[in-house]
Amino acid sequence: MSNTAKLQIGDNSYEFPLVKGTENEVAINIKTLRGATNGVITIDPGFKNTGSCESAITFLDGEKGVLRYRGYSIEELADKGGFLEVAYALIFGDLPTEEQLEKFHSDIKSKSLVDDDVKKIVDAFPKTAHPMGVLSSLTSALTAFNPTSVNVDSEEDMYNSVVKIMGKFPVLVAWTMRKKQGLPLNYGSKSLGYVDNILKMMFEQPNEDFKINPIIKNALDKLLILHADHEQNCSTSTVRIVGSSHAGLFASLSAGISALWGPLHGGANQAVLEMLEAIKEDGGDTKKYMAKAKDKNDPFRLMGFGHRVYKNFDPRAKIIKKAADEVLKDLGVEDPILEIARGLEQEALIDPYFVDRKLYPNVDFYSGIIYRAMGIPVEMFTVMFALGRLPGWIAQWKEMRLKKEPIGRPRQIYTGENHRDFLDINKR
Ligand code: SDX
Repeated sequence: MSNTAKLQIGDNSYEFPLVKGTENEVAINIKTLRGATNGVITIDPGFKNTGSCESAITFLDGEKGVLRYRGYSIEELADKGGFLEVAYALIFGDLPTEEQLEKFHSDIKSKSLVDDDVKKIVDAFPKTAHPMGVLSSLTSALTAFNPTSVNVDSEEDMYNSVVKIMGKFPVLVAWTMRKKQGLPLNYGSKSLGYVDNILKMMFEQPNEDFKINPIIKNALDKLLILHADHEQNCSTSTVRIVGSSHAGLFASLSAGISALWGPLHGGANQAVLEMLEAIKEDGGDTKKYMAKAKDKNDPFRLMGFGHRVYKNFDPRAKIIKKAADEVLKDLGVEDPILEIARGLEQEALIDPYFVDRKLYPNVDFYSGIIYRAMGIPVEMFTVMFALGRLPGWIAQWKEMRLKKEPIGRPRQIYTGENHRDFLDINKR
């Protein structure tokens, strides 16, 4: 294949260089397009065919259902890894040695206190506030208590910012949940592992000794790994574009949390549970909801199905589905909506509408069933997604800033009124 792409516009022809990635993906580099063609640009709503960057962090093959973080397969990471070491690999490039991991965790613990005044912000929210709105606000508020923005050119400064947010974010997540439950906002214990400590902060009751359930701890560890990064998805692209204006890391993460909240994105895990509950309340009539999902006049979508990149099974969904069976069995939880989910999946896998559009279960389809079995309230499901995605957002923000990417500022094609004179109000 030649290493250029040819473009013909009217009588003029142009050539643009091809960019080829380490997994043989090919892009047309159109950096010079507008100048060379006297103003012609491309347009691609939703960026379905447009790359925003070259990145060395995560690789997806949507046709084959492949997902790798820093070259490590998601299957191996979920099976053999721990969330903190996966976070380290995403942010710093390789799986850590035992010593590097110990230092990373110790440095995180040393920065995991949150200014007590943040509790006043938490208190100001009504209990009815959606946890994603609370979390986004608290993350942005961290800037007020940590005003010096990170100097990305200083490795030490960048490292300190990473361990600071990795330490404080789980506290904000726990406090967000406890606020809704009217429970005290506590810290965990430095003597615990990273994920164990998250569970303690979330679930410890003020009047009883807290015991870690290893089934729940291992399930959460795996879920956090599975959500840790996913290349240029909506919320990660948001973190990158906000960071490209040189807004701080906390401000960029806060914006990413808001983007993740949407039901077409991370908010889908909550929407799946609400959909499955509605089907259960409706007598378990999955065929009725399948028909609604296919009806163009009905805004209803089968939540947890379909994906912009995966046109095959989302590898994460396969792992989570297996984990859901194991966790519910180990916890002795009977959840009728798991059967409803399985029924929907079986029907969709043979239904021409879904097969023709390559709509398969995605990461959000089964995750809520596990969160619920773990005792996490449904409104907290997307917060748990954000907790997992944090290292990916940090890694992508760091890569963008270290590569000194230009500020993100897309062009447009104007379709409004041509020039017209101002009319006095009495002449309109
Ligand atoms: C995540 O990008 C990432 O990597 C995201 C993520 C990550 O880890 O960051 O993987 C996490 O966000 C997973 C997706 C969670 N969202 C949902 O489960 C919501 C339901 N799914 C859809 O809304 C949809 O599938 C999207 C948003 C996920 C993808 O939308 P696209 O790529 O823009 O596809 P589309 O909307 O153009 O759909 C193509 C066709 C359309 O039908 P036609 O116009 O061709 O007739 O498929 C149909 C759609 O109507 N379709 C669905 C459907 N999803 C797509 N029809 C019914 N139910 C669905 N769920």
